Amino acid sequence: MSLVPFDDRDGKIWFNGKLVDWRDAKIHVLTHALHYASCVFEGQRAYGGEIFKLTEHSQRLHESARILDFEIPYSVAEIDQAARDVLAANNLVDAYVRPVAWRGPEQMGVAAQKTKVHVAVAAWEWPSYFTPEARMKGLRLNISKWKRPSPECAPTKSKAAGLYMICTLSKHAAEAAGYDDSLMLDYRGQVAEATGANIFFYKDGKLHTPKPDCFLDGITRRTAMELA
Ligand SMILES: Cc1ncc(COP(=O)(O)O)c(C=O)c1O
Repeated sequence: MSLVPFDDRDGKIWFNGKLVDWRDAKIHVLTHALHYASCVFEGQRAYGGEIFKLTEHSQRLHESARILDFEIPYSVAEIDQAARDVLAANNLVDAYVRPVAWRGPEQMGVAAQKTKVHVAVAAWEWPSYFTPEARMKGLRLNISKWKRPSPECAPTKSKAAGLYMICTLSKHAAEAAGYDDSLMLDYRGQVAEATGANIFFYKDGKLHTPKPDCFLDGITRRTAMELA
């Protein structure tokens, strides 16, 4: 894995409507999102220059923000175009694309109605999280002590940055114990998902996957179900 810090790279980032130099895509330390997790994001991959299910991702970004009570000031089509522009500006063909939207520094405190909503899209070459050898051998998952919360306790349908603290804690504990990733159960003790992916089980010629009623309904999950 590359150790070049993510704030010190060459290239362009789409930042509030403009392509800016990578190192200039900065935010202030008193940004609301940094303190109160008012931030949503996406993660999508480009293969051979085409972004897989691009519009579904941009739509989900909009929906995630709406669930967190903010409106993205760019249309789905504009976010789609921003992702394509970023790919082209960085001469990327096979890459990971990261749109992110957050409440800015205009207001501090829990209430944040007066903040502006900012949007950025970055892209970089990011190989699969696991090496091909590890995947062929099979990945080992522990069971996290953290549970996915009930939809009454968190905005579980949103790809909200705040929900990822549970994933980071689970993943750290798994790696510290020699596992590749962690399987998180939900608040009822039922199988939910891994820290950055949905999960499927293959048994007796059938695929099984939990209903996403308290965690992300992944676009990959939906695609796998269409193909199965
Ligand atoms: C916690 C979590 N669940 C599920 C997924 C799968 O979502 P998708 O297939 O839409 O990328 C992700 C992907 O980032 C994730 O982080």
